[in-house]
Amino acid sequence: MRYILAIDQGTTSSRAIIFKADDKGALQPLASAQAEFKQHFPNSGWVEHEPADLWSTTASTARAALEKARLHGADIAAIGITNQRETTLLWDRATGQPLHRAIVWQDRRSAAICDTLREAGHEALITSRTGLLLDPYFSGTKLKWLLDEIPGARERAAKGELAFGTVDSWLIWNLTGGALHVTDATNAARTMLYNIATHEWDTEICALLDIPMQLLPELRDSADDFGRTRADLFGHEIPICGVAGDQQAASVGQACFEPGMMKSTYGTGCFALLNTGTDLVPSTNRLLTTVAYRLQGQTTYALEGSIFIAGAVVQWLRDGLKLIREASETQGLAEAADTAQGIVLVPAFTGLGAPYWRPDCRGAIYGLTRNTGPAEFARAALESVGYQTRDLLEAMRSDWGAASAGVLRVDGGMANSDWTMQFLSDILGAPVDRPVVTETTALGAAYLAGLQAGICPPPAEFAKGWALDRQFTPQMDEAERDRRYLRWKGAVQATMSI
Ligand code: G3P
Repeated sequence: MRYILAIDQGTTSSRAIIFKADDKGALQPLASAQAEFKQHFPNSGWVEHEPADLWSTTASTARAALEKARLHGADIAAIGITNQRETTLLWDRATGQPLHRAIVWQDRRSAAICDTLREAGHEALITSRTGLLLDPYFSGTKLKWLLDEIPGARERAAKGELAFGTVDSWLIWNLTGGALHVTDATNAARTMLYNIATHEWDTEICALLDIPMQLLPELRDSADDFGRTRADLFGHEIPICGVAGDQQAASVGQACFEPGMMKSTYGTGCFALLNTGTDLVPSTNRLLTTVAYRLQGQTTYALEGSIFIAGAVVQWLRDGLKLIREASETQGLAEAADTAQGIVLVPAFTGLGAPYWRPDCRGAIYGLTRNTGPAEFARAALESVGYQTRDLLEAMRSDWGAASAGVLRVDGGMANSDWTMQFLSDILGAPVDRPVVTETTALGAAYLAGLQAGICPPPAEFAKGWALDRQFTPQMDEAERDRRYLRWKGAVQATMSI
């Protein structure tokens, strides 16, 4: 059996991709299926998913991908899971019933809990243990909100009746028929409850947040034994052998295994990860220190910059402003725009992430004239993605000097826009490499599963299969680059001061 099923449970859709391994363990995508599901916005700044939707779209896309590939469960050697991170679920261990909708990573409802913890002077301890900053982005304060708001939940949790999980844990629970309550190190690292140095749940932080530790899943490596699926789901029990949060899986799929290697994924948001090897590098520039992956009991760390709006800015042009019908139209508009206008868009629609961390900020646009039209809006939207990535790379360079020489590997939907990638390279003043296989997230999950199942080779060998589609090199002169970036910085400062 040389087929691996990768499950990619994302923020707006669930996907399943079947990979075929050749005799050297290199993976090629064979068939895939995708299903979108409903987003719930019950309050301003709140974002929820129905747990049943996450599970049913995962199961149905996995079956659809098998059907397309004309395979059966018995043909699949292993499953790899990758998922939207931080999204928080709470369910009853006896019935498997959720106590609430999943609170999605974008949700800002626990901002006040973060403020209280900050004012009480707890941020330094939390950062030193978890590598994270006090922001509603992470699961810990979302879980505290659930325990505070649902009558009796904390008491039931203390009795061991409830289970907390990120999306990976929820899917494994359902895949295994409730036999396993587990997570991997990369997902645990996004909860704000996990000590990234010791690979343990942090007793002190759980006490600070009043979170009973009976709620927490068992910890595993990223390539590990995550149980077997119920036989009735796919007609056969399939072992689950790899798990990683989607951004970490993309880093693996991009073969960023050496310290200094960087990738940036352009999905809803943009997440840049810099491999720092076995060094846990604290950030002095408000980046996150996180787990890149954990293999055979050894953690590899990363510095991460998280931007909340990247591809979502193009969705806003399409669905909000109705300036375009398809994302691909932005490229033509950007080329036609009047560059003299120098419009700057700060897409802080859900606040600003790294390195600013201002959940209260909202978006702004600068430099409008009577001549400003759809083309200038589209160009400013695409440019905002480049500027935000430069913010992250500036912070990485100053946290970790070795990052300065690096090439940036890109993936995700927006990486397919040549115009955007050229602008990115221009504004970074550094090469940007786009691989042939841009399904890096699913590939990373499949690789982790294949590694554990003994189908795929060790990382250094797998890295040799990474192939370049196109390298973008800087064409903009340095003075122009600096002038434009300074204008962006000014726009961000103005936005934060309103
Ligand atoms: O941290 C959030 C991230 O994991 C979400 O990724 O691709 O589902 O937008 P995506």
